[in-house]
Amino acid sequence: MDYLEIEGGSPLCGEVRIQGSKNAVLPILCAALESPGVTVLENCPDISDVGAMLEILKGYGCRARREGSRLVLDAGSLHSGRAPEDYAGMMRSSIMLLGSLLARLGEAFLPYPGGCVIGKRPIDIHLQALRQLGAELKEEPEGLRAVCTHPRGARICLPFPSVGATENVVLLAARAEGVTVLQNAAREPEIVELCRFLNSMGARIEGAGTGTIRIRGVERLHETKYRIMPDRIVAGTYMLLAAAAGGKIVLKGAPLEQLMAVRQVLKQMGVRQESQGRELFLWCPGRSRGGLAVCTSPYPGFPTDLQSPLMAALCLAAGESVIEERIFESRFKIAEELARMGADIRIQGSRAEIRGVERLRGGRLKARELRGGAALCIAAAAAEGTSRIYQYHYIARGYENIIRDLKGLGVVVH
Ligand code: UD1
Repeated sequence: MDYLEIEGGSPLCGEVRIQGSKNAVLPILCAALESPGVTVLENCPDISDVGAMLEILKGYGCRARREGSRLVLDAGSLHSGRAPEDYAGMMRSSIMLLGSLLARLGEAFLPYPGGCVIGKRPIDIHLQALRQLGAELKEEPEGLRAVCTHPRGARICLPFPSVGATENVVLLAARAEGVTVLQNAAREPEIVELCRFLNSMGARIEGAGTGTIRIRGVERLHETKYRIMPDRIVAGTYMLLAAAAGGKIVLKGAPLEQLMAVRQVLKQMGVRQESQGRELFLWCPGRSRGGLAVCTSPYPGFPTDLQSPLMAALCLAAGESVIEERIFESRFKIAEELARMGADIRIQGSRAEIRGVERLRGGRLKARELRGGAALCIAAAAAEGTSRIYQYHYIARGYENIIRDLKGLGVVVH
């Protein structure tokens, strides 16, 4: 069944353990190809994007098996095959294979990447930066053909701190001759995680998490065992659920230091928070406060991936709030569905004005992309009556088992 049903309206009560990070594990799976040995990854989220990436890796001869939350990869017999098109077309992060395949094999063919429908999402910054490292890239009708027999370190300055382009540069530069200095690099925690992983394979990367990353290329990378960090976006989703539905919940294993911008917003909304180690207690005794002005921006700003969940929560918060989306141009698709539930939202270009209403009504809703789908779960849990959210498969791309998690937090879900 490609839907889930939520009976909304009751305050939350319960706890949830935060799964491993989707945006960390996807580039790490690509990086694993750079070693001819065995890579063991612990705390791997069981999401459909990981399943699709593994199918793609198999297209290049990498062997993979899952043992519970552990993944074992063997890229010993990697070849410059071809990613199965249906999978590569499904996910944008397949573009990261360009850097890692070039680093390991010196050539690659990649069908054009897909991904969630949240804007134009071009790959010009990736291509420009890889060319500076010596890659020759040809855009063919069916995909990208790339050759880079001798990658050389370079001084690169990105025109925008793109997460994916930063990862691609790091992946190729890790095995280039000489030093690469990457300026205006993205500073997201997932970049830090990728660099830590590569360093655990023998790479020499410094400065991850700052705007300048310095990579001294090495001749070979070796096998490693690594534990994937928890998912800050999943944690943020459940934090915003608490603001919308009210009640008392505990998040276990949440990466609190990565969630400062979200915690600041929750504080403004009147949600009480207390942390103890990696546990976060959230308590929202009544209707949350609106009157916020939030802009999405690169890390450490408010993450674009939590913009739709925030919009869902602000629909019920007292007062008028404004969200400005500065990363992706088409990320307000969810507003139509929320309006059908009784929300008062006005969209003008990249700006959304949300006037908080006292109640939302449950209904038949359609997820159109991953984070928008999660936001509909938030709205449905806070709304009166029953909601059915169709196209659940979008949510399963990034949430291992949102039904289990919501039940754990006291939401009635079928
Ligand atoms: C990654 C995340 C995604 C998150 C996004 C921004 C993964 C798998 N996905 O996506 O969840 O929402 O970061 O935090 O980690 N751009 C260009 N040209 C390029 C590359 C990007 O114009 O060559 C633009 C994009 O269209 C977008 C902006 O830059 O408007 C940000 O994109 P980027 O940071 O690259 O995001 P992704 O790596 O695709």
